Amino acid sequence: MKYLITGGAGFIGSHIVDELMKRGKQVVVYDNFSTGKKLFIQHHRDNPNFKLVKGDVLDQNLLNKSLAGIDFVFHFAAHADVRSGFENHEIDHIQNLEVTQNVLEAMLENGVKNIAFSSTSSVYGDATVHPTPEDYPFQPTSLYGATKAAAENYIYTYASYYNWKAYIFRFVSWIGERYTHGIIFDLMKKLKENPKQLELLSDGTPKKSSLYVKDGVEAIFTIIEKAEEQINIYNLGHTEVLTVDQIAGIILDELEAHPTKKYLGGKVGWKGDNFFVHLDTRRLNKLGWKPKSTIEEGIKKTIDYLMEDPNLFK
Ligand SMILES: NC(=O)c1ccc[n+]([C@@H]2O[C@H](COP(=O)([O-])OP(=O)(O)OC[C@H]3O[C@@H](n4cnc5c(N)ncnc54)[C@H](O)[C@@H]3O)[C@@H](O)[C@H]2O)c1
Repeated sequence: MKYLITGGAGFIGSHIVDELMKRGKQVVVYDNFSTGKKLFIQHHRDNPNFKLVKGDVLDQNLLNKSLAGIDFVFHFAAHADVRSGFENHEIDHIQNLEVTQNVLEAMLENGVKNIAFSSTSSVYGDATVHPTPEDYPFQPTSLYGATKAAAENYIYTYASYYNWKAYIFRFVSWIGERYTHGIIFDLMKKLKENPKQLELLSDGTPKKSSLYVKDGVEAIFTIIEKAEEQINIYNLGHTEVLTVDQIAGIILDELEAHPTKKYLGGKVGWKGDNFFVHLDTRRLNKLGWKPKSTIEEGIKKTIDYLMEDPNLFK
């Protein structure tokens, strides 16, 4: 099997690349480096099984050429910032939905029959069932969630038309090595800028689940190896949830920082944010997977990683 990974130089994508390379597979990374980093993939540069295409998924010609001879696409490139959609109504549509259709068209052009897609808990919006199961309806409250839900539907349709195998993963927030965006990053950056006062966007009570990256990668490969449906939809998450205040508390303890806390918001941190994110992972657990790291351990590993390289905050 030969694999192509859109977004393969990003936080999650580069870990998928590592796992595939470890398994001796041929891997093409397709990335425009808008948020991805050469640093995350450069250790594979001299391996003959590895190829890098610096390109945009919006470039249909280059994408079509790059998928020649590919058997399996991990489509992980996206505009992975949930917040910006309220101000900018175009970006999620282009970077999450149009790019997905480009990938699907390139697969069709090249006869590729397998796709894995990185979706999100944001498709459920403010779900009223917790933990939220996969059959809960799409009720996104952000354009990020809305376009991911639409992209899932496009994948479903193409897979049904052409009899492809599809794996759709709905992720909670990932944490761990190579983490470059999210609440831990934001809070640590704020503390660097002002060690005396830590501003939190909400009132500290929102409850979020997270998943340590190595557990997440193991979950993805478990699903690909064991899920038997033609179109496989799986939540990836943790049994635990922490409040924003608890997350901040772990960071402050680890950094031995004692700022005053200032709460800027209410029940959510920004327009479109969700107060309670906790996914039901029983479908995945039945395949024999469960997370090995607690969320607290994952947060500590993320802090260690971010502390190692101060350039990451620039
Ligand atoms: N990190 C999370 O907690 C999380 C949670 C839910 C879903 N996801 C999804 O998982 C995927 C990976 O997220 P991540 O956290 O690794 O983000 P990331 O920003 O680190 O990775 C995205 C990668 O895609 C590349 N990219 C973006 N637009 C592109 C384009 N048009 N053409 C080519 N390359 C492009 C970027 O350069 C980057 O390398 C995304 O689809 C994201 O929406 C992530």
